Amino acid sequence: MSSRPTVRLIAAVARNGVMGKGGKLPWSIPEDWSHFLAAVKGGTCISGRRCYEELGQAMPGSDLHIVLSKQKDLHCPDAVLRDSLPEAMKVAHERGGDIWILGGTEVYRQSFELADEFWATHVHADVEGDVYFPDGWQEHFPTEVSRRRSQDEQYSYDFVVYRRDTPADSGVQ
Ligand SMILES: NC(=O)c1ccc[n+]([C@@H]2O[C@H](COP(=O)([O-])OP(=O)(O)OC[C@H]3O[C@@H](n4cnc5c(N)ncnc54)[C@H](OP(=O)(O)O)[C@@H]3O)[C@@H](O)[C@H]2O)c1
Repeated sequence: MSSRPTVRLIAAVARNGVMGKGGKLPWSIPEDWSHFLAAVKGGTCISGRRCYEELGQAMPGSDLHIVLSKQKDLHCPDAVLRDSLPEAMKVAHERGGDIWILGGTEVYRQSFELADEFWATHVHADVEGDVYFPDGWQEHFPTEVSRRRSQDEQYSYDFVVYRRDTPADSGVQ
């Protein structure tokens, strides 16, 4: 019998909740990008259409990238297209590897019930932007498992892993 894959949200979020600006990241933090690449390597990634467009390709190093969009003819030749999160979770569970939720806002919100862990990079600055990480995540992921502080010339930030206390919904209908 195969075990259930671990489902994780991963996001870098400013002190004021900002995580995006003009369709891009509001910062360049090389250490966070390396952390992100290393984390999702070999896993199945699920993201909204805008995140995929920002990347310009499937998530490098991932085993599979599933893109969410209601557009039936979306061009995403190196990814799998699905029109709902339950449909995406079905594909991801069938694939069998760990599942990484890459955002954006609504995808994270819809995934709060489904994820076992939230891998956060807390950027210790208020940053200008137009896309926010959804409120209420603390209720879903109350337990801090690990924390590592770091910094570069511009920002200081903490890499934190949070875990839920109650079993997650499989998300597959
Ligand atoms: N700092 C971070 O860690 C981080 C992480 C993620 C994103 N970001 C930033 O956030 C921004 C992108 O996020 P976003 O929230 O604007 O967009 P997004 O979630 O990437 O894309 C939104 C689109 O995804 C599709 N979608 C979302 N949920 C769906 C669902 N349940 N079923 C079917 N389709 C669904 C819809 O596409 P259609 O309109 O095609 O139907 C929707 O318009 C960028 O600025 C990015 O840099 C930052």
